[in-house]
Amino acid sequence: MAVPTGQGEPEPMRTIRFKISRFKPGRIDPSRFETFVLAVNENMTVLDCLEQIRLVQDPTLVYRHSCHHSACGTCACIINGTERLACLTRVWALATTTVTLAPLRGFARIADLAVDMTGFYREIEAEWEVLRTAEPLAGAADSGGALRLENCIECGACVSVCPAVQAHPPFMGPAALAALHNQMQKTTAEQRPALLARAAVPHGEPMCERALACSRVCPTGVYPARHIADLRRLRLG
Ligand code: SF4
Ligand code: FES
Repeated sequence: MAVPTGQGEPEPMRTIRFKISRFKPGRIDPSRFETFVLAVNENMTVLDCLEQIRLVQDPTLVYRHSCHHSACGTCACIINGTERLACLTRVWALATTTVTLAPLRGFARIADLAVDMTGFYREIEAEWEVLRTAEPLAGAADSGGALRLENCIECGACVSVCPAVQAHPPFMGPAALAALHNQMQKTTAEQRPALLARAAVPHGEPMCERALACSRVCPTGVYPARHIADLRRLRLG
């Protein structure tokens, strides 16, 4: 398919089917997949397509996003079975005519593709030096002085893909263990044993199944599995 641009050559388009997992507590419950068809050009990301579908086809579609450039982490979801950032994933690069979208696993679902990230922060302490106050958002009345991890965009992809998180809900999780290990590098020698003891609790590093999936899906090169392996070496002496 080609769409005239009014400036010479028509823009090449592909017809893509988006199978999106829908859920609205009490209304679309249990969840089900709904299909939307969209003409997509080679530059459009999955997030662009979600915005088009919401704008033109279904204003009730719920998903999270903010920055559009892989900095905020909010748009992570499961795209064709793999945890990815919707704003970083070009649809043509998926090389398929059907794109399946589902919410991250391991988090309570709010609606459609949006999940509640509260649990992500359960094991991360506000006073850790790996946290930084976020830059004020352009145009935002109040950025709220939110704290952000310095080298992790808090997307939750590593938590979603982790088999230990699926099997044992209280697992501390790859991102929290990576943050804890980073915090150990920043703190004094006297404080390190307490942090290591915290990582060594049964629902901490010992629960890791060494699947390495967290490092494979991480969009920012945190490599949580490497941090967990370092914690294991420290624990075992
Ligand atoms: S460690 Fe990577 S995958 Fe996990 S939350 Fe941080 S950025 Fe996302
Ligand atoms: S919208 Fe911010 S990371 Fe995708």
